[in-house]
Amino acid sequence: MSRGGARGHTRVKTARGRTTQSTRWLERQLNDPYVKRAKAEGYRSRAAYKLIELDERFGFLKGKKRVIDLGIAPGGWSQVLRRQVPKAAVAGIDLLPVDPIDGVQILMMDFMADAAPGALIEALGGAPDLVLSDMAANTVGHPQTDALRTMGLVETALDFAVQVLAPGGDFVSKVFAGGADSALVAEMKRNFTTVKHAKPPSSRKGSVEWFVVAQGFKGRKDAPEDTGSGEDREPA
Ligand SMILES: C[S@@+](CC[C@H](N)C(=O)[O-])C[C@H]1O[C@@H](n2cnc3c(N)ncnc32)[C@H](O)[C@@H]1O
Repeated sequence: MSRGGARGHTRVKTARGRTTQSTRWLERQLNDPYVKRAKAEGYRSRAAYKLIELDERFGFLKGKKRVIDLGIAPGGWSQVLRRQVPKAAVAGIDLLPVDPIDGVQILMMDFMADAAPGALIEALGGAPDLVLSDMAANTVGHPQTDALRTMGLVETALDFAVQVLAPGGDFVSKVFAGGADSALVAEMKRNFTTVKHAKPPSSRKGSVEWFVVAQGFKGRKDAPEDTGSGEDREPA
C-alpha cells in the first residue's frame, strides 16, 4: 500500500494472491469518506449513512415505537435506530452473526425460513410501526440473476410488512436496478399512502442499489364478508 498520492489518496499495490477486484475494493474502502466517518462516529458500517440520509429526506424514524431491521449485519442501521429513536423496541435478523447491540434483539436465521416472521414478532413484542430491509442476496456476478434474487427478498419483505405493520406504519427497502418493478410498486401503492424511490448520496454512484420508501400503511383489508350465498357450503 502506498500513501501520499494526490490529496492524501491511498493507493494499493496489487499484492500477489490478491485479485485486481479485491485490490480495487480495498482502495475504494480506504479512500471512502463515509468509511472514515463511520469509523470516527462509531458506526459499524458506512450503510448507516444511507438510513440517516433517507430519514433526513423522508422523516420516517420520528416517533416510531417498534422497528424491524431485516439484514441487520453488521449493525449500522440498528445503531442509528438506537441513537435516533432510543425508546423504540428493535428486532433484527441476518444469516450472519452480529455482535450484540444494547437494546436490540438479534436473530441469526434466514428471513426466508417459514419460522422467521413469527420469531421476529415474538422478539419485538408486538406489531412494528416500521419495517426496514437492507437485505441483499450474495451476488453471483450475473446481473439478471443477482437482481432477481434481491427482488425475491424485497417481495418477501413487503409481504411480511403488509402482514404485520400497524396501521400508519412505514416500509423502507433496498431495491435493485433503478427501483422496484411495476407489479411491486402497484402492490405498495395499494397498501401505502405514498411510495417514493431514492438513492441517498452515500449509496455508491456506480452501484445499482436504490431504496423504496413506502409510508402510511393503510391497514389490512378485512376478510371478505360471508354473503350467505352458500356457494362453498356442503350440500344439506
Ligand atoms: C448490506 S448488508 C446490511 C447492512 C446493515 N443494514 C448495516 O447497516 O450494517 C445486507 C445483509 O443482508 C443479509 N441477508 C441477505 N439475505 C438474507 C436472508 N435471506 N435472511 C437474512 N439476512 C439476509 C446479508 O447477510 C447481509 O448481512
